[in-house]
Amino acid sequence: MDESLLGELVRVIEIEAVTTYDLRRRLLRESWAGAQVAFPEDDVPGALHLGVIDDDVLVAVASFSPEATPYRPTARAAKLRGMAVEPTAQGAGVGRRLVDVGVQRLRVEGFEVLWANGRDTALGFYRRLGWRVMGAGFRNANGIPHHVIMREL
Ligand SMILES: CC(C)(COP(=O)(O)OP(=O)(O)OC[C@H]1O[C@@H](n2cnc3c(N)ncnc32)[C@H](O)[C@@H]1OP(=O)(O)O)[C@@H](O)C(=O)NCCC(=O)NCCS
Repeated sequence: MDESLLGELVRVIEIEAVTTYDLRRRLLRESWAGAQVAFPEDDVPGALHLGVIDDDVLVAVASFSPEATPYRPTARAAKLRGMAVEPTAQGAGVGRRLVDVGVQRLRVEGFEVLWANGRDTALGFYRRLGWRVMGAGFRNANGIPHHVIMREL
């Protein structure tokens, strides 16, 4: 989809953590029964939850919270978690827009670095947005392959 057209169709808004749960459950927990979709980072001071609204429907979510990274220990760092775009909305620039808005907000607040534990299946997306892959891969508690990823703000 053309980026300028996307701009007219979607809005990025601030949402409550609880509003992210449905997309997190379906996209990141593959609807496992009893999966934990509330993250410890959700309620730390300064946590920011963003959603993309397309035609009054929430189609994407992402959460940002202050958290240091050993890859840039002296930088003021934020962590991205819970990045999820509704399958029917994927590939249209929605994820890029969501991260861009988060980055703008974090810059204004004086953050210098954004990092995440990125699923290996999504590393191509983050690389397209200018993130770097750091260090060796690992499996998270659910056995899913990840790498630490990071970008300057
Ligand atoms: C990964 C995800 C967030 C990407 O969102 P999206 O809205 O589809 O991505 P966009 O359309 O904004 O893509 C931006 C660019 O990244 C590319 N891209 C998107 N997903 C990609 C992938 N998995 N691998 C390689 N490139 C990818 C797009 O082609 C696009 O490239 P362009 O600049 O040439 O146009 C989405 O596919 C998703 O929610 N996946 C399931 C959950 C998940 O894995 N979340 C991330 C956990 S770390």
